Amino acid sequence: MTNLRPMKIAGIGYCVPKTVITNDDLKKLYETSDEWIYTRTGIKERRVVSGNETAIDLGLEAAQKALNKSGFEPKDIDCIISAASVPPQLYPTLSCTLQDKLGIPGQVPAFDLTAACTGLIYALQVARGFIGAGIYKTILIVASDNNSKITDWTDRGTSILFGDGAGAMIVTESDDGIDDVLSINISADGSIGQMIQTNMPGQCCPLVEPADEIGTGKIIMNGKDVYKFAVTTVPAYVEECISKSGMTSEEIDYLIPHQANQRIIEAIQNRLKYSDDKVISNIKYYGNTSAASIPIALVEGVEQGKIKLGSTAVLCGFGAGMTWGAAVVRLREGIC
Ligand code: COA
Repeated sequence: MTNLRPMKIAGIGYCVPKTVITNDDLKKLYETSDEWIYTRTGIKERRVVSGNETAIDLGLEAAQKALNKSGFEPKDIDCIISAASVPPQLYPTLSCTLQDKLGIPGQVPAFDLTAACTGLIYALQVARGFIGAGIYKTILIVASDNNSKITDWTDRGTSILFGDGAGAMIVTESDDGIDDVLSINISADGSIGQMIQTNMPGQCCPLVEPADEIGTGKIIMNGKDVYKFAVTTVPAYVEECISKSGMTSEEIDYLIPHQANQRIIEAIQNRLKYSDDKVISNIKYYGNTSAASIPIALVEGVEQGKIKLGSTAVLCGFGAGMTWGAAVVRLREGIC
């Protein structure tokens, strides 16, 4: 880590769709109750795209806000990484579409990476490698997800959880020698990948033997196993990442976790022995917005006065793959 060039987090932005679906609204789809959903997940409502709105619109607005805060212009960006697991199109990729819409120069590389709800932390690690090695100088990371498009709205075990949203970050080579990423770890275990699946529809060539099953393109999840995985793996992992940063958990100002389930957030909080004011949770209003959940919680936390900038935070994510990751970061004044 020490021989990498230092990286600065220069700007962060987010965008959520306007349409709100409450727990009571879901009663129109199946038998459930606000009480059941809220006590098990901490979720009261979520935002979803409607009509022709897509992750492109959300990602565009989040990226424009992050650019504005960073002080950089589209022409300054020399790499784009989209951490979207549910883009509106497989190709052109979300990152290529955003390059065009933002007016980022045509020769700049743009690619999507898929690490589901851990996408933002994965993208941060990739960006850190590029900037640290001097390959690129200023990178736009966009995490924009449209879970509502791949949710099985007849499955009350999964459709209560997810929402749509986007977050974006501008990271750049640090001009003052200070590294904003104090430590970062990413991990995956494909042997337990069946816990959360989205199997793509698609048929074999009509001239060959057909496949036994055709994917539905919808999320299939074993909620209990995911829950157990998250509460057993993530808290210790976060602690490990903190100790790698050279700081103690008491010295870190905030925990900004992936917003998957309030009880999972509390498991991490309890492990770190953090009081409620150090833990940022907005799952009540947005549900699980996948890779976008950390930047949405971060910027909204600042807007609502829960986070004071000029501080440090530990971020952590986990999701399909299974993938997980954590990072201890500096939050400079003015980044959002
Ligand atoms: N409303 C009312 N009842 C519901 C319901 C709903 N929305 N969903 C399920 N139920 C019922 C089930 O049918 C079941 O009834 P039964 O016992 O008669 O069969 C009962 O409630 C328990 O269901 P179960 O699926 O075992 O609930 P659970 O306690 O595991 O909670 C989750 C389900 C999804 C809330 C929970 O497993 C969870 O949050 N897991 C983590 C998922 C996650 O975070 N995924 C994303 C990771 S990035």
